[in-house]
Amino acid sequence: MFTAWMIGVFLAVGQHLLYSSLHHQAIEDETAKIREVLYGRALAYFSKVAFGGTVIIVYRQRLWKTLRQRALSIWSIDQLFLATEDPTLFFNWETILKAPILTVIALILWLIPLATIIFSPGALTFGDFIEVSNVTINVPTLDFSAESTNDWRTPLVLPDGTKKRSVMFYNTTDVKSEADGWFDYYDQPSLDLTRVSIMSVYSLESHSLNRQDARQTSCGGNFNCTYTTSFVGPGYKCEMVANGPEDNEKLRDMGAPFNTSALVPEGKDVYYAQVDIGDYKSPQAGNLSAQGGVPLGSIPDDLGIFKYEPVLWIGYSINSTEKLPEDSPLAESWTARYDPHIFRCIHYETRYTVNWNYTEPFYTTEVTREYLSPIVDTNFTKLENGLPNVQNPAPESNFVSPHDVALYKKTAAYHAVGQLMRKFLSGRIELEPEFPGPSYPRVFSQITQTRLVSNVTSTPVEDLPAQLESFYSDAVLSLFSSPQMLVVSEESIVVNRTRVQSTFVYDAGKLWGCYAPVILLTFIILVFGMWTIWNDGTTWTVGFSRVMVTTRNQTLDDISRGACLGNNPMPLELMNTKLQFGVLNEYSDIEVLGINGLSEVGHCAFGVASELSPIIKGVPYAGLNRKARPRSNSEGRTIIRKKEKAE
Ligand SMILES: *[C@@H]1O[C@H](CO)[C@@H](O)[C@H](O)[C@H]1NC(C)=O
Ligand SMILES: *[C@@H]1O[C@H](CO)[C@@H](O)[C@H](O)[C@H]1NC(C)=O
Ligand SMILES: *[C@@H]1O[C@H](CO)[C@@H](O)[C@H](O)[C@H]1NC(C)=O
Ligand SMILES: *[C@@H]1O[C@H](CO)[C@@H](O)[C@H](O)[C@H]1NC(C)=O
Ligand SMILES: *[C@@H]1O[C@H](CO)[C@@H](O)[C@H](O)[C@H]1NC(C)=O
Ligand SMILES: *[C@@H]1O[C@H](CO)[C@@H](O)[C@H](O)[C@H]1NC(C)=O
Ligand SMILES: *[C@@H]1O[C@H](CO)[C@@H](O)[C@H](O)[C@H]1NC(C)=O
Repeated sequence: MFTAWMIGVFLAVGQHLLYSSLHHQAIEDETAKIREVLYGRALAYFSKVAFGGTVIIVYRQRLWKTLRQRALSIWSIDQLFLATEDPTLFFNWETILKAPILTVIALILWLIPLATIIFSPGALTFGDFIEVSNVTINVPTLDFSAESTNDWRTPLVLPDGTKKRSVMFYNTTDVKSEADGWFDYYDQPSLDLTRVSIMSVYSLESHSLNRQDARQTSCGGNFNCTYTTSFVGPGYKCEMVANGPEDNEKLRDMGAPFNTSALVPEGKDVYYAQVDIGDYKSPQAGNLSAQGGVPLGSIPDDLGIFKYEPVLWIGYSINSTEKLPEDSPLAESWTARYDPHIFRCIHYETRYTVNWNYTEPFYTTEVTREYLSPIVDTNFTKLENGLPNVQNPAPESNFVSPHDVALYKKTAAYHAVGQLMRKFLSGRIELEPEFPGPSYPRVFSQITQTRLVSNVTSTPVEDLPAQLESFYSDAVLSLFSSPQMLVVSEESIVVNRTRVQSTFVYDAGKLWGCYAPVILLTFIILVFGMWTIWNDGTTWTVGFSRVMVTTRNQTLDDISRGACLGNNPMPLELMNTKLQFGVLNEYSDIEVLGINGLSEVGHCAFGVASELSPIIKGVPYAGLNRKARPRSNSEGRTIIRKKEKAE
């Protein structure tokens, strides 16, 4: 009884452990999945068997006690004996009223499978689970210093045979790199870089380009992921310097190449850019060979030196949409006021911090820029009249010479990226006045092919300085779309990954919600059973042998006459006869007290209540193996018959 209960508890714990191990496990194989589910159900079934076993043993123990205490109709006795298979005892008032404990125990027995077999496997379900993990994997990053150590003569070849591409092309003083004091100097942006920047600009998207499988490669598989990378690259730092004609003095002091008089409404241009002043000369000298730009005579002192990085001077006018007063002289040409702005952008070495967010189906980047230092930190000297001397940047100590190879190549790489962008910005857009009209923009710049120009008015967007900064950083980040570029490298970083997975989901609360009442009730029944055994002083069970030995009573022979086949239906009269289990009063009181001692007391059997006396604990009643007094005690039989007649 106790062992069965313990086994039941162990099986329930086993089911819990099995389910716990399956919790949030994604099992791809369907058969394996079904197998795990069946293991769980098997455990549930066996625990039902075990708990049921405990309850049945107690039930049977109690059954005999009840039969001893009360006379019940044979009908009810049948039902009590068959309680495990036949639930009709729950509809019988006699069993409910005369054997309430037994009925309750039988009811619990019937309910155990409901909790264990039917409901407990429901604690394990199948559902979407968002797996979150932090892993350290290699993600792409940019490293412009890779250009520093690159030599075009010995390109870096990847294991799959692709050559890493530089962002620029070089000229050199010696193709064979043998002559004394040879050096390479910058020629122009490479075709790969040109392709990437043109694609980025022409995409008109307000985000950088990326490779098709960027999410898979960056997240290390089919995940959603976020991570932050930081790298150093080129960036334009823009600063508004004039917001109207009143700032023109300031502009002149700053050495601006133009002022608001060039811009609408004073001038013709709604956009005007000077972005090439002081640019790196191409060709660098007059006597370069067609092969690698090797100087044919002596090498000029300043060959290839970066003396100045062009500053972007950009002016644009914005339609304020405020109507001009009638008496304004400008009202002859315009309906609304135009506000001219001029800003300046300096090319900086910039620390990018990018929050990548690869979440299907899109990806987003959040870029913060920290401007470190100007790429070439020189300014024009001033002429006597206060204007900048564009031929003479200073200080010379900040020039970047090709002899300083590492710095030079990195600077050249930044310069190349900037050079391509400047190409799109240079030029101007004229705007025809509204009167006499019609008003239309006349374009002398590639900027209209970019997202910096409004698609509604065909004039520059309002927040042009900020847009230009991000426009340029998008172009830089678009290098990620071209992993064969030398500057695209890898970095080991902690990536926050999530993945939606179809997994087992185990709810321990549900499982114990099923098992706790079962374990508790069966434990109470178990304790009750043990108390009953102690109280009875013996254990009981049911079975044919028990029926055989407990029905050796002449009275029963008499009343069951005619029903010996046991076929259905039994005579109603017989079924309604009330029987009880007890000590048959076969012997007279004198005999019970017995000259032959205690071993000779009467035998226990079913009978009608009047011929029985209660079984007393500890009394050794006549057993089968102790055939005591022969049953031919005619005197006893007579007594019984007399009693029967009396009833
Ligand atoms: C603005 O530019 C125009 C033309 O270049 C020039 O004539 C004018 O003096 C400038 N104004 C100031 C305040 O510098
Ligand atoms: C590099 O050499 C080529 C071939 O001579 C020449 O066309 C080009 O202008 C040179 N580049 C520079 C920046 O001097
Ligand atoms: C400027 O904006 C006003 C108000 O929206 C509009 O009426 C006018 O046509 C605009 N000017 C031009 C040149 O588009
Ligand atoms: C990433 O993008 C998704 C969808 O756009 C958003 O729900 C999520 O909050 C973002 N994650 C972070 C860390 O910004
Ligand atoms: C160049 O000019 C800028 C802005 O006027 C200034 O911040 C910077 O220090 C100057 N650089 C040098 C090397 O003087
Ligand atoms: C026009 O520009 C706005 C703002 O830049 C953008 O949201 C919109 O999609 C553009 N329209 C088209 C048709 O490209
Ligand atoms: C990524 O997130 C989106 C939106 O939350 C979701 O629909 C998608 O299934 C997720 N992808 C993966 C691989 O988990």
